[in-house]
Parts: sequence; structure tokens; C-alpha cells
Amino acid sequence: MTTAPTTAPTGTTHGVLEGVVDLDVAGPTISRHLYGHFAEHLGRCIYEGFWVGEDSDLPNTEGIRDDVVAALKAIDIPNLRWPGGCFADEYHWMNGVGPREERPSMVNTHWGDVVEDNSFGSHEFMRLCELLGADPYVSGNVGSGTVAEMSDWVEYLTRSGDAPMSRLRREHGHDEPWKVPFWGIGNESWGCGGNMTAEQYALLAAQFATYCRNHDGNELYRIAAGPNRDDYAWTETLMKSISTLGGPVTSRKHNSWQALSFHYYTHATDDWEHKGSATEFGDDHYHSTMVNAWRIDDIVRGHVRVMDAYDPEATIGLVCDEWGTWWDVEPGTNPGFLFQQNTLRDALVAGLHFDVFHASARRLVMANIAQTVNVLQAVVLTDGPTAVLTPTYHVFAMNARHQGATSHPVQVVAEDARHEDGTGSYRTLTTSVSSRDGSALVSLTNLDLQRPATVRLALRGRDWQVGAATLLTADRPQAHNTAEDLSAVAPAPFDGARREGDVLVVELPPHSFATVDLSL
Ligand code: AHR
Repeated sequence: MTTAPTTAPTGTTHGVLEGVVDLDVAGPTISRHLYGHFAEHLGRCIYEGFWVGEDSDLPNTEGIRDDVVAALKAIDIPNLRWPGGCFADEYHWMNGVGPREERPSMVNTHWGDVVEDNSFGSHEFMRLCELLGADPYVSGNVGSGTVAEMSDWVEYLTRSGDAPMSRLRREHGHDEPWKVPFWGIGNESWGCGGNMTAEQYALLAAQFATYCRNHDGNELYRIAAGPNRDDYAWTETLMKSISTLGGPVTSRKHNSWQALSFHYYTHATDDWEHKGSATEFGDDHYHSTMVNAWRIDDIVRGHVRVMDAYDPEATIGLVCDEWGTWWDVEPGTNPGFLFQQNTLRDALVAGLHFDVFHASARRLVMANIAQTVNVLQAVVLTDGPTAVLTPTYHVFAMNARHQGATSHPVQVVAEDARHEDGTGSYRTLTTSVSSRDGSALVSLTNLDLQRPATVRLALRGRDWQVGAATLLTADRPQAHNTAEDLSAVAPAPFDGARREGDVLVVELPPHSFATVDLSL
């Protein structure tokens, strides 16, 4: 039944996708870390977004905003990457521990050239992760740091007993070490993290990672700074550097690092100075956005192909630790703060990304949206005392049950769902299916601006019933939430899903994202 999709001529009034899903055949597990987050010392992400300080009038726990924590807990945030980004490679962690009033300040040269007072440091970050119930993912400084500095940071955070750094941590008020599962070896080392060549970085990655030790049963999953976008040569250089005599990688345990990351951002234009407005866009920018968003599919496949050649058993993980839309900043805001609104268009980009990520679950072990609060494709925007949940937030919420679930690949057998015009051509329908604990979740995105769509999925191998369905849409893709209108774009109960024999039929409105629960 697996055949290549057939594409009918465009111009029809309805998008159509037909597929087959075997519910009794388990695909790879969807790592819960595909729903990961990223928080950098950038603009109002850490300060205002998470950290308001203990003296704030806003409800907080030890200086951390309660409303933002509650919103993120509600979507089961699995991990949080910190402190950057580009900031990570100029961050010296020792400046961010000890009594706050004694911490030295620094200039955040990447983001607005503002003075960073280091009031949010390692202890505050670890406390934030505890409140969120999220795994910490710390990005270490390769660009302007030393091997000893990074090694000491790992010891400070994760070692018990009478070691020098554990003593220092205790002096700073925290007796027990923390668990830190994820450790990044630099960030964008091809650019802001040192402008290195792949060969140069591969040597440094091995050296830095070697001295990031596993202390007291804390096993680090070390993530090397991989390529920008589709720089497959960088990936190949890194993979070669850990394969024995050019042969296959045999065990991740014996390697200095266990995964490599790449970054991909979606823009509406190729002009860095004019990336397009987050809210004031026409159909042309909507279409070019979707063309560019779909590139994530080619890029993931491209890196997977290279990694498969050196590591056919997929022992080395692929991580996309920065993804999302990147528009011009909101008028009147600091250009270095990367503050942008978030519309239904952003939510549809997220829906598409998650379907691609689910389909790549064998190799892709983690993905982190950039960034969690007030920066780029944020899931929460704070406006004074109000935490605004963006349309992208609702995609995370509606998709939450894919985390840790078993994927069931959708075999597309027929498709008439394509947008074609001068701005480019892209598939307008995408879907993914997973199961967990006696139920399945079907996610569906209709990117088409004008046409409704019908998705017909023949679900085989297990009995099933249609349960609750939820729809995220609005009258126009520019719709967004603000402190004055918190639910201009909000999930609503959906009656567009039904069973016809063994086929799940879902009727999607234009520019919409939907989920359908199935009981098994
Ligand atoms: O997320 C904003 C920036 O984008 C990050 O600091 C950097 O890693 C990337 O270029």
C-alpha cells in the first residue's frame, strides 16, 4: 500500500490527503525532548520573562515568575537550554554564583550591548528547572572559555563530597549536587561561537568534552555544536572525527560527545535586514514563510543521511536546539532584543515542524524552540503583569501527548494539497500519529490559506474510536493574542473528525491546526 504521493493539478477547491497508518506497528519512540525549550540572556527572556527578583510585586517563587512557570508546566516542558545561544560563548559561570550583590557585571555584546549584572546565574537556573520539572541543558563556553572553566562548572553543579567546586557550591548555599543530563559544547562555533572551521571545532569539541566528567552517577549527554542549517560538510567532519579509522561509530559511550546539534530558523525573505513583519504580512510573505518552513524537512533528512553513513545504528543523536520563526522586531523595540509577536502563521509553522520531527524520531533526539519567553517564536509573551499565551503555545499544548509516545508513520497514498505560485511551491497538508497508554493522537495541519481540506487516514491493526478533537484557527493568519485579547487564537472543541468504516476522516478549515484523540 506504500506508494509515492500523486499530485493532482492545483486549482481544485479542496485539499486532499489520503494515507494509511498501522497502529499495531511501532515506529520509533518520539523523544519527549523534541518539545524542548531555549532561554537565553537576550532581551526580556531571562529578565522579566522568568526572573523578576524576590522583591517584585508580581507573584514569584524565589524571584521566578509564577505565571510563566505555571504556563510551561501545563505543557509538560521537558528541558530548558541555557544560558545561550551566542551569549553562552561569552558567559563565565563563576560571575553568576555567590551573593548576588557581589557578582561582577559584564556587557552582553551580542544582544543589545546591555550590562548583564549576573543576578540570574547557575543556582537560579537550576531552581527554575526544579520549579518547571524540566531537565537542565547547560550550554558551555568554548568560544571564549577554557577547558578548566568548563570542567569546573560541571564539577560545581554535579559533584558531591569534598571536591573544590562542590565545596564552593556548598559555601553558596546548596549542599547537594544537581542532576544535569544535557551539556552543550559551545554554540554556533562556525559563527558567533568563535568563527571556527569544522576541523578546528572537531578537535576542540573532543578536548572540552573529555573534561566534562560524569560525577557521582550524573551521566552527561554531551552535545557538540553542529552545523548551521544545511551545512552537511560540517556534520560530516564531526562524524568523521569520532569514527574509528573512518569506520562506523560503534558506541556512544566511548565517544567524547554523544550528539550534535544544528540550527534552523524560518524567515519570510532572504534579506537579513528585512525579515518581514510578524503581524503585518501579505499572502506573499505567508507563502514564502511556508516554503522556508518546509526546508526543515530536507535539512533533517540531509543531516540524517550523513550521520547514517558513519553511524548506521544511530548511536549518535541529532539535536535541533534552535528552531522557529525570526521576523523583524516589533516597531519601537530594541533591535538587539529580538521581540516579535506571534500569530496563527507561527503556530502553523510549529505544527509542520513537529510532524517533521516525529517522522525523524529515530535519529532526532531533541529540539528546542527559540525562545521560550519574549524572544523570537516565544510560547509566552509577558506584558507587565500579564502572561500572554501565543498561538505557538497552543500547538505545544495540543501536541503534548506525543511526548514519549510511539510513532506510527503515515504512508501517504494520494495527495492533492499543494500551493503553487510565483512565491514557490509547498505541500499544504501534513499529519502525524502516535500512541501511548491506550490512546492515539493525530495531529493535522492545513497550511492552505484559502482551501479547506479533507484528510482520510485508514487506521489498521487495532480497533479505535474517535474521541475529543480540538481546533486552532482564526479568521486570518495574522490573528494573535495580546494582554487585551488573550484568546483571539485559542483551541476550541472541533466536530470535524468522524469515522467512516476503518477510515478516520477529518475536515480541516483553511489555515488551521487540529488534533484528534483516538481511544484504542
Ligand atoms: O536565538 C537567537 C540566536 O540565534 C542565538 O543566540 C544564536 O545561537 C542564533 O544565531
